[in-house]
Amino acid sequence: MSLLIDRIGQLVTLDPADPSRPVRRDAALVIDDGHVAWIGDAADAPAADERLDADGRAVIPGFVDSHSHLVFAGDRADEWEARMTGVPYTAGGIRRTVEATRAASDDELRATLGRHVAEAHRQGITTLEVKSGYGLTVDDEARAVRLAREVTDEVTFLGAHVVPADQADDRQGYVDLVCGDMLAACAPHARWVDVFIDSGAFTDDEARRILTAGRDAGLGLRVHAGQFAADGGVALAVELGAASVDHATHLTDADIDALARSSTVATLLPLVEFSTRQPYPDARRLIDAGATVAIATDTNPGSNYSSSMTTAIALAIREMGMTPLEAVTAATRGGAAALRRDDIGHLGVGARGDLVVLDAPDHRWMGYRVGVPLVAETVVGGVRVAS
Ligand code: NIG
Ligand code: FE
Repeated sequence: MSLLIDRIGQLVTLDPADPSRPVRRDAALVIDDGHVAWIGDAADAPAADERLDADGRAVIPGFVDSHSHLVFAGDRADEWEARMTGVPYTAGGIRRTVEATRAASDDELRATLGRHVAEAHRQGITTLEVKSGYGLTVDDEARAVRLAREVTDEVTFLGAHVVPADQADDRQGYVDLVCGDMLAACAPHARWVDVFIDSGAFTDDEARRILTAGRDAGLGLRVHAGQFAADGGVALAVELGAASVDHATHLTDADIDALARSSTVATLLPLVEFSTRQPYPDARRLIDAGATVAIATDTNPGSNYSSSMTTAIALAIREMGMTPLEAVTAATRGGAAALRRDDIGHLGVGARGDLVVLDAPDHRWMGYRVGVPLVAETVVGGVRVAS
């Protein structure tokens, strides 16, 4: 089955094989058997089984959302409202979602997850990483990674989200559990292990134990660090060879140097800063130093409940010093790098046929027309999943 997308006004390929030409004009593209098979001038477009007329609009690679927490029940709109009047975000709110999630049935969680995946497609997201972290018992975490695995290959075990309320007096015991039975139950369904390093969650030493155990169980490493303070988590992530360190809002000069010299991606989450009223990270400094930067949504019921990648891009341009093309690149190729993938995040020949047709002639309009729904069509593996 092949799909021709023609009359593309602006095609953002971000093709690593053609770095001098990230954007083409008046182009066409063919997806065959799920992968990009041909790119060229619109005038030379070959025939295909199906045709999508872009009618002069822009086409970009599908967004790679490398950070989300979508296996949950309930909401925390009251916390969000309180934050808007100056009440600070704290990790403790996670425990409320843990309580609601434990009480939900598999089918309830599956239905909510499915709604969020459909919503992600409508936002132009074509690859989605999903974390556990609202179960925090062996059975509840195993259930979360199993459910996540039903919708994505990019599943992250986050038993180390917070110490649950019922084990608050035994941190050491909880860390032992995460590294032992919980990891053993979750690793078969997960690709990644993650730890939330924060004064309200886990210390660097606890994180080191958990990440090392996860690595020994065959999982790749991701770390939440630097959300509210430069907490040593970035150095730890780089030292352990993590694929990504996420939030990275508060960084020392040494953190920036370390990231620039490593393959650890700095995954920035501007929607979290927006929703928690925190200062934005300085993406310009990271990029100028030579670090690889990703933008992800971090959709979750607490620190940010928006899945709008186009809004994240607009914030990155407006508040973080990124150019429009850098922001699109961070939300696509950057996310792919954070998941150590080179088959997604760009539209070079051979890449997966994941793309977005924008209701705009130019990718810059995502920042220029912030808040306007500009995702006209989302295509995953050559199949139209949202329009
Ligand atoms: O990435 N920081 C830790 N975890 C999430 C928030 C989860 C929640 O508040 O429920 C985050 O921001
Ligand atoms: Fe997170």
